[in-house]
Amino acid sequence: MSQSFGLVLAVLLLCATFASAVQNVKVQGADFINNVTSNRLQIIGVAYQPGGSSGFQPGSGIDPLSNGTLCLRDAALMQQLGVNTIRIYNLDPTINHDMCVSIFNAVGIYMLIDVNSPLPNQSLDPGNLVSSYSSTYLNHIFAVVEAFKGYPNTLGFFGGNEVMNTVGTGGTVPPYIRAVTRDLKNYIAKNSPRMIPVGYSAADVSQILTDSWAYLSCNINGQSGDPSRSDFFGLNSYSWCGPTSPTANYQASGYDTIISTFGDTSIPVFFSEYGCNKVEPRVFDEVPVLYGNMTSVMSGGLVYEYYEETSNNFGLVSFYSNDTAQLLVDYDNLQKQFNTLDSKALQSMNSSATNIQSPKCSTSLVSGSGFNNSFTLPSIPSGGQTLIDHGISNPNQGKLVTVTDTAVTLPVYSSSGTLLQNLAIKPLPSDESNSPGGTSTSSGAAPSTSKKSAAGMVEIGLGGAISVAVLMGYLFF
Ligand SMILES: *[C@@H]1O[C@H](CO)[C@@H](O)[C@H](O)[C@H]1NC(C)=O
Ligand SMILES: *[C@@H]1O[C@H](CO)[C@@H](O)[C@H](O)[C@H]1NC(C)=O
Ligand SMILES: *[C@@H]1O[C@H](CO)[C@@H](O)[C@H](O)[C@H]1NC(C)=O
Ligand SMILES: *[C@@H]1O[C@H](CO)[C@@H](O)[C@H](O)[C@H]1NC(C)=O
Ligand SMILES: *[C@@H]1O[C@H](CO)[C@@H](O)[C@H](O)[C@H]1NC(C)=O
Ligand SMILES: *[C@@H]1O[C@H](CO)[C@@H](O)[C@H](O)[C@H]1NC(C)=O
Ligand SMILES: *[C@@H]1O[C@H](CO)[C@@H](O)[C@H](O)[C@H]1NC(C)=O
Repeated sequence: MSQSFGLVLAVLLLCATFASAVQNVKVQGADFINNVTSNRLQIIGVAYQPGGSSGFQPGSGIDPLSNGTLCLRDAALMQQLGVNTIRIYNLDPTINHDMCVSIFNAVGIYMLIDVNSPLPNQSLDPGNLVSSYSSTYLNHIFAVVEAFKGYPNTLGFFGGNEVMNTVGTGGTVPPYIRAVTRDLKNYIAKNSPRMIPVGYSAADVSQILTDSWAYLSCNINGQSGDPSRSDFFGLNSYSWCGPTSPTANYQASGYDTIISTFGDTSIPVFFSEYGCNKVEPRVFDEVPVLYGNMTSVMSGGLVYEYYEETSNNFGLVSFYSNDTAQLLVDYDNLQKQFNTLDSKALQSMNSSATNIQSPKCSTSLVSGSGFNNSFTLPSIPSGGQTLIDHGISNPNQGKLVTVTDTAVTLPVYSSSGTLLQNLAIKPLPSDESNSPGGTSTSSGAAPSTSKKSAAGMVEIGLGGAISVAVLMGYLFF
């Protein structure tokens, strides 16, 4: 083999590797399960809202996944941090997200997508349920499905976020959440190449929390295929504030109650946001607990949030208008906690959890006075069924593209102020998801990806193995 042929072949194979995709993840019983390896996926995640509210300007073509230069930097930092999932709230389905999503895919990061947005007619209004549950609204959320259904790293859709946030809304909103879930899942069944899970993200309102989960996770009429059942349940939880706060332990934080409440869950439950910041900097000492004995019930969580907003101070990384970024001490602390986790143990499958069946819905599942216990759902609004049957008009459908640039071009400083050298994404050589366990970020060296089991490598890692072999061959010629 000539050197140039070897080089060309190596480059071709590497490019093919860069375009390789994470494996689909599905919901099976109470767990997220890799559809190929049957490994469990526990969410090690962060909320991703770059730019805060100004990061969502649909009129200007800007949303959190619109600029590949920024996503490349953020994916490199998240890969080093060790996350495998991001949650993205406000997205414009008409914008092209291919490069950003392909970058996150290349580093093995899945996405949980909120289908609603703050724009008019793009969310359910608890004060005007009947008029906001319209075909205009459905067209929007279906457009989000269209934009993301083609990406292998779309882990799921949030059909609602904190729509029930008071005792009062618990009385009126629940049948609408089930109706929206039904419509989304019917749309996906008819128009998507694969089933993508649809769930709900709940506010931590103790009076309605258990009822919300019980109401959304049962099957009406007991059919297993009931599309109005949520596929997963996220809880936005800020109850563990540490370490000097009185709630920095298992009991005082109420984590013990979470485990007893959701102990017999039939769908995955996880923190769709967590990370109380009443004590700063955050040390995230809830992390080893969440990924410790709580994994028998919980499927991990998403730290709120990656991007520092001065208005709320929840960030892990600060960004400045001159396009520089600086890691915060919170980033270092979270990375240290993630690095203590045993990624391999977190992937082990538990057949009791994956085989668990959902209960049949009944009014007795709902205990709280005032919480809606009706399983008679609003019918799909006029015009909605046509959208499902034929698909929406002119959908913008995302698809993976080849990621060629790996080096981060924007300057990023460590928390102590040194410029990170050689910051880059390291596309995973085979179909892997990212996991914690890397080296220190300030070195800018190897990222925090760990391999699957040897068996997994043999089964699915062939593309990467071949390119490495050819590269090595090239070096020897
Ligand atoms: C993406 O962001 C970079 C850095 O802020 C900026 O220079 C570039 O113009 C942006 N690209 C687009 C297409 O907006
Ligand atoms: C919202 O949708 C309704 C129809 O369902 C429409 O009459 C109204 O103009 C829309 N509002 C906006 C701001 O798009
Ligand atoms: C449940 O919610 C629906 C829709 O908001 C409402 O019509 C119904 O009265 C509620 N039922 C109960 C029992 O609260
Ligand atoms: C899982 O894999 C099977 C077999 O390849 C495929 O038929 C199915 O569509 C996949 N399901 C999901 C949810 O990706
Ligand atoms: C789980 O771990 C927490 C602290 O990490 C501990 O307080 C609690 O007792 C443990 N629960 C069980 C059932 O082992
Ligand atoms: C396996 O799942 C069952 C049912 O969810 C749960 O009770 C049990 O604690 C789990 N076992 C482990 C080791 O996580
Ligand atoms: C960018 O802006 C930040 C915040 O104002 C400042 O601390 C930093 O020195 C600036 N960096 C450069 C290279 O101008």
